Amino acid sequence: MKHCLMNNDENKTEDRKTIKVKTKTIVANWKMHHGPSETREFLGKFLPLLSERDLPRILLFPPAISLEVMSASIGKHTDIGLGIQNIYWELEGAFTGEHSATMAVSVGAEFALIGHSERRHLFGESNHQVKNKVSTSITAGLKPVVCVGETKIERVRGDTETIITQQLDSILSEISDQKSGSILFAYEPVWAIGTGMLPEPDEIEEAHSLIRMWMKEKIGEVFSSSIPILYGGSVNENNAKDLLKLSNVDGLLVGGASLDPMSFSKIIESASL
Ligand code: 13P
Repeated sequence: MKHCLMNNDENKTEDRKTIKVKTKTIVANWKMHHGPSETREFLGKFLPLLSERDLPRILLFPPAISLEVMSASIGKHTDIGLGIQNIYWELEGAFTGEHSATMAVSVGAEFALIGHSERRHLFGESNHQVKNKVSTSITAGLKPVVCVGETKIERVRGDTETIITQQLDSILSEISDQKSGSILFAYEPVWAIGTGMLPEPDEIEEAHSLIRMWMKEKIGEVFSSSIPILYGGSVNENNAKDLLKLSNVDGLLVGGASLDPMSFSKIIESASL
């Protein structure tokens, strides 16, 4: 069943057409896969598969324990950025098992994935905690990749727009000034993650358009038009090209299919200019 997220008035249709972030961004979220030795092995196969030119922006999010090895192994590939999958909102202290944003920076991370649905739903992360993590990331110099998205029940109830808007509103205070110019958003419907089920193309466009319009309204057209909105959830080498053609889809956040060097390099190829 499809739910219309937006009122399709003429202005909004025009906005969808005109706002574009040119360079695509392809992100690998390895989740809890590939420790340091597998990371070295992956890069040994993956880096030679990259073409010499016209690459999209590539961001790799290995487990935190593999970041240092990855940073050292990337070598001359300055077009690849590294990120941490989660951070704590304090910079130091008695928080067993957590990693701080400054620690992530010290091992080469430039980005932080914040509010991934597995953090929200498996670890009970609230919108308030997501906001604190966005704030700390920006303070420490990490660019946040903020994930939003609805569960299946929320979609069926017709609550998709409300849920996404609440998730976005919760971080507004952290991104409303220019210091957060390098934030990214990812729309990841929870029910599409790891399931092989994708929303219909128009459902993806509606959600991305909602995020674009929210940004435009809250933080202004110029700033918002430079912020990429990625799609994540069951992306693979067969559907990547079509997903990247959708309006306001500026890149992809890839889970399972990013674990294999060949599949991930094919996804990157789909985004090459
Ligand atoms: P899959 O690509 O395995 O569905 O995972 C998506 C995801 O959660 C990326 O962050």
